[in-house]
Amino acid sequence: MKRVCIVGISGKLGRYMLRHALDRGYQVHGVCRAESVGKLADMADRITLFPGRTDDRAVMAAALKGCDGVLAVLVPWGTSGYSTNTADAVLDLADPGARLIFSCGWHITMDGKDRLSRSLRLQLAVFRPLLRLFRIADIGDQERACRHIFDSPRDWTVVRGSDLEEGESEGLPVWADHVDDPAIAHNRTRRIDFALFMVDALANPALIRRAPAIASCRA
Ligand SMILES: NC(=O)c1ccc[n+]([C@@H]2O[C@H](COP(=O)([O-])OP(=O)(O)OC[C@H]3O[C@@H](n4cnc5c(N)ncnc54)[C@H](OP(=O)(O)O)[C@@H]3O)[C@@H](O)[C@H]2O)c1
Repeated sequence: MKRVCIVGISGKLGRYMLRHALDRGYQVHGVCRAESVGKLADMADRITLFPGRTDDRAVMAAALKGCDGVLAVLVPWGTSGYSTNTADAVLDLADPGARLIFSCGWHITMDGKDRLSRSLRLQLAVFRPLLRLFRIADIGDQERACRHIFDSPRDWTVVRGSDLEEGESEGLPVWADHVDDPAIAHNRTRRIDFALFMVDALANPALIRRAPAIASCRA
């Protein structure tokens, strides 16, 4: 792995992934909205930025070219398919053989066998229609994006994050195939370690075409 593209590099998760990627000696391409370029001013000389929306296929084609790894933040903002179009752009435009790592939350299921906690079910029941009604976000868009990924023959991994918190690293998170696994019942991960898991997955072939649900290694 020599060069990686971080899609959504200016967000909190993206900036942590950038730190980990540079620590590992990767060259970094990054895509973020033009209005967010300033957030990366202190890193400008260490990365190659491609300003634009992550669902803009022309921007994505340029950013992904020559990258053997992709770290993509999937966010369901708006109601115009931002997540799905971002995932499709990565799947369609990344170099052949590239490792593709996507982020999402525990609400996504690959095989339908995840048993969500009552609290997460309640949050989804309340916020899902409200976010859509006010056109703030569309959880269904993130679900469709992941379905496209799960159906793809490419070398993808979908990392499903638990509730997130800030703070110093606690180490590489533990993971399970399903969110109701007792090993991850504590349902919390430091955001810096979510990023660490994403970057680590680039070099972990055991995670290819899997959707690990992660949580802190400190229960
Ligand atoms: N937050 C949680 O508790 C939580 C829990 C589990 C999993 N996750 C997952 O973790 C990942 C990152 O989530 P995060 O909460 O930490 O957020 P984040 O890293 O701060 O990322 C937010 C991203 O969304 C972009 N964004 C913000 N507003 C937007 C808009 N209106 N249109 C398009 N893009 C917009 C940001 O770009 P700009 O820099 O340009 O604003 C940034 O790239 C997501 O995949 C999420 O599903 C989050």
